[in-house]
Order: sequence, then structure tokens, then C-alpha cells
Amino acid sequence: MNDFTPKIIVFCCNWCSYAGADLAGTSRLKIKPYFRVIRTMCSGRIDPTFIFHAFAQGADGVMVAGCHPGDCHYSSGNYKARRRIMLLRNMLPQLGIESERLKLEWISASESPKFRSAVNGFIDEVTELGPFTPNGKGGAN
Ligand code: FES
Repeated sequence: MNDFTPKIIVFCCNWCSYAGADLAGTSRLKIKPYFRVIRTMCSGRIDPTFIFHAFAQGADGVMVAGCHPGDCHYSSGNYKARRRIMLLRNMLPQLGIESERLKLEWISASESPKFRSAVNGFIDEVTELGPFTPNGKGGAN
């Protein structure tokens, strides 16, 4: 039996994803309680150091959620975020972090069910991976 409960950080852009998360809360959608939301003005604001800092502080998984392509309130922030996350996912294994621990989602202000399913699904995936250890599965500290 796996009684591990992951710590998940969800970075949400202010204009779409955070509103979707807020709507999920006010609609009382059932979401597993193992995540914390950090609001940024745009997904393009999320510097890779924020993600590394989250892992260094004990996060087991990090999700970045932004407006759908073409809907970013700053025109191209989410395209920049997409490129950064793609690069980071390729780079993470070299740092002993499974790339599956980092996820990107597009969630609009009206997509509270999508927020729920994305977060619940990611929590399940990270639970399956187990706790994050700095040098990967079973690695030394
Ligand atoms: Fe939402 Fe840029 S404002 S991704």
C-alpha cells in the first residue's frame, strides 16, 4: 500500500488558470488536497529558477498552468513558457529529476473541470513516481 502523499506546486497565470482554479474552488469541485497554487501574472513570468526552487524546497511535482495558445493577455508569454518547459523537461533528468515531475497545462477561466482533472491526474502520476529525492529514484541525498 502506498501511503505517500505528494506535495505539488501549481503555478497559475492570473488571467486564465488562476480564475479556473478559483472557479473550481467556488464550484466545490473535488480536488485532492495535496497542492498549493502560486499565482503569477503570466505563465511567461515563471523563471526556471522558480521551478528549481520548488523542488529544492521539497515539492514532488510542479505544474505550470497558463492561458491557451493565442489567449495570453501578454500576447506571447505562454509561447515562451511552452519553450521553457520543453527545454526544462529535457534537462531535468540530467539533474536527477524525472521529467514527469514537471507538467504544463493550458486552462482557461471557464475550465474549472479541466483544472480539477489536470491537478488530480498529476497528483496520481506523482504519487506513482514516489517522493522526489534529489538524485532520482532511490538516489542518495
Ligand atoms: Fe495567462 Fe500569459 S496571461 S499565460
